[in-house]
Amino acid sequence: MKIAILGNGGREHAIAHQISKSVKVSKLYCIPGNAGTMTIAENIYLDILNFEKLLDFVKKKKIDLVIVGPEKPLVEGVVNFLEDNGIKVFGPSKISSQLEGSKIFTKKICEKYNIPTAKFGIFDSSESAYKYLEDANKPIVVKADCLAAGKGVYICRDTESAKNAVNEIFNGKFGIANQVLIEEFLEGEEMSYFILSDGKTFKKFNTAQDHKRVGEGDKGKNTGGMGAYSPSGLINEDLDSKIINNIVKPTFKAIKDMGETYKGFLYVGLMIKDNKPYLVEYNVRMGDPECQTILPLLHSDFLELILSCCEEKLENQIIEWKNKKSICIVLCSNGYPENYRKNIEIPNLNTIANDDKSFIYHAGTSLVGRKFYAIGGRVLNFVSISENLKNSRDNVINKIDSLNWKNGFYRKDIGYKIIDK
Ligand code: AMP
Ligand code: GLY
Repeated sequence: MKIAILGNGGREHAIAHQISKSVKVSKLYCIPGNAGTMTIAENIYLDILNFEKLLDFVKKKKIDLVIVGPEKPLVEGVVNFLEDNGIKVFGPSKISSQLEGSKIFTKKICEKYNIPTAKFGIFDSSESAYKYLEDANKPIVVKADCLAAGKGVYICRDTESAKNAVNEIFNGKFGIANQVLIEEFLEGEEMSYFILSDGKTFKKFNTAQDHKRVGEGDKGKNTGGMGAYSPSGLINEDLDSKIINNIVKPTFKAIKDMGETYKGFLYVGLMIKDNKPYLVEYNVRMGDPECQTILPLLHSDFLELILSCCEEKLENQIIEWKNKKSICIVLCSNGYPENYRKNIEIPNLNTIANDDKSFIYHAGTSLVGRKFYAIGGRVLNFVSISENLKNSRDNVINKIDSLNWKNGFYRKDIGYKIIDK
């Protein structure tokens, strides 16, 4: 089969790596990919939001399956567009992708289908939002109703900062805004829970926890993700059944009631308190870096699973996992998530080998001649799997230290809540 993967992050390198193991693959393309995917696939420099050009390429190369990594093309409707043109695609439709594209869309589903989530209000003017904020308990959370690469969420300690957040959103910081979402601050511990769905059946696809703050001890600015581990230490049978019955099933019912089916990954972002799950957000794709930490644990053939979703045959599949613990630590450029230098060489990268227990997934990298360069804030994802998380973390740290990259930094405490307690 000829397969194309859309995206250029660590998530897409991890997906490409799993897919490339399948005997069914005759040719793998990554659009646009990164320096890591180049070693296992052919990178094609196309804009993944230019659907017409994408379709031309897919048709010209007779590609049998397109796998969509990031949210933006999904929310803009790449799946409908390609399917309407007879192409097999893995990912949810444009309407289903509103689960990530619009927080208000998701909150309205939560309200109608009684899904546990933070109490909220939707406001269409700053005056009405201000009025609500005066008396509301603090901290309080103010959210823009769009894709904002994780930046449209403000956790506000006082009324003043909450009003500023409302202003920034209505003033167009994240694009035209007619409404703002304000919600109660949830206490607890976050967990990422993944579902694989073919539209008829769905199955659990493991759990993870990520660390979004730049500094150790979960301090400092928010980032795209500094590391993750899998499985989550919070999960147990009782919690699992609450997540499935109280959150996932009613959500798929809501999608079905809209006349849609959900095909692809669903990322359920949860806050867990006293073993009860509350929905924080949905994403309509795998997480990054959760994907990099989860996929190396997969024992089943990843391509078979994806194909079974495209053919509505997921029911017949058993998803098998290695009985191991996985950790992913992200090596970032100094200065990230603020200003950092680009095009800095990573000299020793060729000397560090992958094996069946440790992997390096590239994110912001490029290859010029035989030299690797950092071109992004999050540069490399180091993953290790072993019998326990402490060993996995020690292995990763040894690898990163042996790379000895002078322009980079990373968090040594990924997984501390479960490893160091
Ligand atoms: P979201 O994009 O909605 O997932 O929000 C990004 C991050 O903000 C989440 O991963 C949480 O860490 C935090 N967050 C969002 N909503 C809430 C909430 N209601 N209570 C506490 N933390 C929240
Ligand atoms: N790790 C968070 C995300 O992928 O959105």
